[in-house]
This record gives sequence, structure tokens and C-alpha cells, in this order.
Amino acid sequence: MEQKLLLSQLATDTLKGLSSNPKYLLSKYFYDDEGSRIFQEIMNMPEYYLTDCEHEIFSSLKEEITQAICPENKLFNLVELGSGDGLKTKILLKHLVEEGINFQYTPVDISAKANLELVESLKTELPALQVEAKTGDYFQKLKNLNGHASIQKIIFFLGSNIGNFSHDETTEFLSQLSAYSNSGDKVLIGLDLKKSPAIIMDAYNDPHGHTRRFNLNHLVRLNRELDADFDIKKFEQQTTYNPQTGEVKSFLISNADQTVQIGTLEKTFRFTKWEAIFMERSRKYDFQTIEKLALNHGFKVVQNFTDQRNYFVDSLWEKE
Ligand code: AVI
Repeated sequence: MEQKLLLSQLATDTLKGLSSNPKYLLSKYFYDDEGSRIFQEIMNMPEYYLTDCEHEIFSSLKEEITQAICPENKLFNLVELGSGDGLKTKILLKHLVEEGINFQYTPVDISAKANLELVESLKTELPALQVEAKTGDYFQKLKNLNGHASIQKIIFFLGSNIGNFSHDETTEFLSQLSAYSNSGDKVLIGLDLKKSPAIIMDAYNDPHGHTRRFNLNHLVRLNRELDADFDIKKFEQQTTYNPQTGEVKSFLISNADQTVQIGTLEKTFRFTKWEAIFMERSRKYDFQTIEKLALNHGFKVVQNFTDQRNYFVDSLWEKE
């Protein structure tokens, strides 16, 4: 009799992705400890302009952002989805505290460790700040917060994280964001803008090999966590950019006919020579598309904050 396996989410998603044609893996699984470390290296390299641009926006436009998010200095709740180390947000938080603005900060992250470290650092850096971190699913937490409808919410979703979503995931995300917002609530979304393809390719096809290691680490994770036997020498990383769709896509390409066993799944997967696994998309936007995205989900664009080079935008939307 066939025995049913009780599979983790990683195992279930891996089974689905590698059984599909064409094959894919989900980029949310890049971020184990090693993947998070490599992503830090990516953010530190000069070619990866996104982090610097958003940092510049928060540093140079903090007065304008403050004015736009709380024109009347009424109490609000600044909710940050995927807060991580909160590095960019801290620039604004410091300014808001110094200006005596009436607000509380609610960082939401799936990592309990990240939340703990953020709260600890804020205790010393900004002791006057009211913080209540939430660990878990973004929308479960937003749903709970929506119970306190009397306090206006300003929801941050920074770092071009939305760019990693598929079209359907973007629609789902913005629909939920809209469902858990009240009229007058605002969202600030970080989006990477379309620009010279050469600049984009340098950021995602970097000469240091960090992006390549970032992708291959996913296979190393499967070897460790799902008892797989990927030979990472037999996979090459490739990045493409389509200037019409604005999509950067990353692939791992098998450079041999080969089979890979995944112990936890009790399955063998066949790869033909030059067959590709789709690993990640990073979408780049234009202002027209941003406007449409907002309108389609019940928001209007209030203001766009860009860096000097117009590479990146933090777009402020208001729920109608
Ligand atoms: C996390 N995310 C916004 C990054 C991006 O730019 O899409 C992930 C990344 N992938 C390769 N380089 C950086």
C-alpha cells in the first residue's frame, strides 16, 4: 500500500515546481541564513543601485514624506510589512520622533529573529518610539489591526519586494492590502523603475558572482533540507531583461543531461542538457503602470518620491 508523505511547504512547493513544464522554484525560498547573508552582499555591491536609491529618498525627502503621510499630525499607526532590519525606515522614524509627531510603529515580519533585533536596536536608538512588532503572516496581522479602524494606518512595503511577485500574486497582494485598509489609510510602496537595460543587467548579472551564488544556494538548501543531490557545478545561472514587460528573470540552466534525487519527496527529476529552472522575477515599473495598479485596487496616487537619477520610486497611495 502506498504511504502518504507529510510534506513541509518547501517540499510541496518544490515538488510542484520541478514537476511543472517549464520547471520553476519559488524565490521566497532564497532566504535561509546563507541566502540572507548573500543578499546582504548583493545590497552592498555598487552595481545594486536599488538600496542606495531608496536610502537616498528617505534621507533627502524625509520632510516631504512626513508632510505627505501626516499633514494634520493626527495619531497614526505606521505599519511596515517585511520590516527586516528597518534600516531605511529608521531614517524616517528618527525624523518623526524629533518632530514630535504622534504615531506608533508596527513592524511586521515573518522572522521572529529580525523583529527581536529591530525592537532591541530601536530601544537604544529611539527610546521614545512606541513600537509593537508582530511576527507572522502580513495579512493576518493587517486584518487584526483593521479592528482598530479609528486609527489611521500608513502601510510601508519597501525595497521593491513587490517586484518579485508574479502578476497574480501582485493582484492578490494589492487586493488584500485594499481589503484591510480603510478610506484615508495610505500605503508607501517601493518600486524599481524602468531604466537603461545596461544598468539593470549590471545589478542582476554582477561581476562579483553574488547573484549566481544567491541562486545556487537555493539548490544547496534543497540538498540539505530535502535530502536532494543537486550537483551545483552542473547548473549555470543566467539573467535576462525584457524592456517591454520590465521583467528581469533569473534561471538556473542544467549544463548536462542529468537526474537529481530528492530523498524527502522520494522522487527523481530528469534535466535535459540546457533545460532551465525559472528562479526569480524582479519587475521594473513605469509611472503609468503604477497609476493603473493603484486605481485598479481602490487607491489613488498621492505623491511619488524619487531619487535624483529617477531610478527608484516610493509611491504614496491613499485608499479612496
Ligand atoms: C528582494 N528583492 C527586492 C531583490 C530584487 O532586486 O528583486 C532580490 C534580488 N535578486 C537578485 N538580486 C536581488
